[in-house]
Amino acid sequence: MIVYLNGDFVEKEKALISVDDRAFLFADGVYEVVRCYGGRPLRLDEHLRRLEQSVRAVRIEFSDFRTIGDVAKRLIAENRLTSGDALIYVEITRGSAPRVHTFPPRGTKPNVYVAGMEYQPKRNQLENGISVILVPDIRWSRCDIKSVGLLPNVLMAQRALDVGADDAIFIRDGVAVEGTASNFFGVFGGVVTTHPKSNYTLAGITRDVVLELCHKIGIATQEAPILESQLPDAEELFATSTTMEITPVVKVNGIVVGNGTPGPITRQIQKAFWELVRSS
Ligand code: PDD
Repeated sequence: MIVYLNGDFVEKEKALISVDDRAFLFADGVYEVVRCYGGRPLRLDEHLRRLEQSVRAVRIEFSDFRTIGDVAKRLIAENRLTSGDALIYVEITRGSAPRVHTFPPRGTKPNVYVAGMEYQPKRNQLENGISVILVPDIRWSRCDIKSVGLLPNVLMAQRALDVGADDAIFIRDGVAVEGTASNFFGVFGGVVTTHPKSNYTLAGITRDVVLELCHKIGIATQEAPILESQLPDAEELFATSTTMEITPVVKVNGIVVGNGTPGPITRQIQKAFWELVRSS
């Protein structure tokens, strides 16, 4: 597997960075994950725009986002990812420097890593849905930044697995904000609802696609908080992300949603999403 590190295309085993890397020491870095279908990245420009927003928000000195797009395309070709499903992973850190909490000296080069890899979608979950548990949102209040500081996400995703569920939904002040690596949607009175964009959620690219598709096919939407207390009234629930696409949620804390199978609106959105993928 060929990856990109700091200007070079190298075998993955040869892509080495210093133990002084700021992301290794402080989680001082940001990332992106882009989905490719048949070698074509979906919404690459939007992902690069969000990467730029993350880089700017944490004040990493990097601006060459066009190169990242070109690198991603070259990695797809070099790693023969031109058919089937693949992911592009991008990470930009504040570079390598002796461990001091403040920023390293001006001119310290960021570490830039891009990899392309095959991806196996979880077809069973897409078809039959997942079960989730509700967990306290112990994250910071800049969840809009796609930071590599993902320890709360890791711990809660594992807690879900440990109790036999598939994933966890973060609850902050009584509101179901998002999943450990996904945005969260509910259908209430036929209206597709998701948390407004805010500093407590990541502005998901798939989330935007879903809202766009709903408008196109005539499904009502609203961007409003989903209260934990509303969850028993949800007709349908689903989670969205680059990796999960539109994954139905059929159980919350062991209690079935609706009749326990993916609902008709979720199915309609999944279908519209796959049609979009096929035509783009
Ligand atoms: N995560 N919220 C969080 C906390 C996420 O980590 C993600 C994606 C999303 C959905 O965003 P998008 O639709 O742009 O993928 C929402 C990626 C896939 C990951 O960490 O692997």
